[in-house]
Amino acid sequence: MDVRVVDHPLARARLSTMRDARTDNATFRAALRDLTLMLIYEATRDAPVATAPLHTPVARTTGYRLANPPLLVPVLRAGLGMVDAAQALMPEAQMGFVGLARDEKTHLPVPYMESLPESLDGRPVFVLDPMLATGGSMEHTIRMLTERGASDVTAICVLAAPEGVAHLEGSGLPVRVVTASIDERLNDSAFIVPGLGDAGDRQFGAV
Ligand code: PRP
Repeated sequence: MDVRVVDHPLARARLSTMRDARTDNATFRAALRDLTLMLIYEATRDAPVATAPLHTPVARTTGYRLANPPLLVPVLRAGLGMVDAAQALMPEAQMGFVGLARDEKTHLPVPYMESLPESLDGRPVFVLDPMLATGGSMEHTIRMLTERGASDVTAICVLAAPEGVAHLEGSGLPVRVVTASIDERLNDSAFIVPGLGDAGDRQFGAV
């Protein structure tokens, strides 16, 4: 499984803002937006492009665009804070939505929403979720996508735990991971350590 860690100095700076327990909700959201720009930028580095001739005010040249823009799928709630940045870089991208909440005791994902195109055959998909902890939520999401024919899925995550990466690797699902950090481990509550806390609560407040 391809795992790309984006450790650019600016990404590290934004991630540090997100980790800091003193960071308020609004500042956290702004740092998440900035960091998502960098993650998407890296995730699309090798994306196929289509060309078409164009005229600058001076001369004729070649223009470029993404040949096959990905479907963006934020995992609610926390993935919502990554949508704005992903759409800013790929305004032509369409969107689907998945709602999952992790059960606090079992740590298993409980689905509550699914709004996806019927067929994902031949469409790249970017799943937006800041946290890859046990990997259960991401696996569940990717299975929803592959059932609809997706075979090219990218998980865009701010943080990943080694356990979550291993979980996805073991699943054999067609996914690659782009993240700003692979942290140390999970704690007994299946929170990423050192992590940043609960990415949903830190953006929107506790539920
Ligand atoms: C968090 C996070 C992921 C999931 C990761 O969401 O945003 O979706 O947990 O955990 P996993 O890898 O162990 O499955 P949460 O269930 O807290 O919901 P929220 O986004 O509504 O806060």
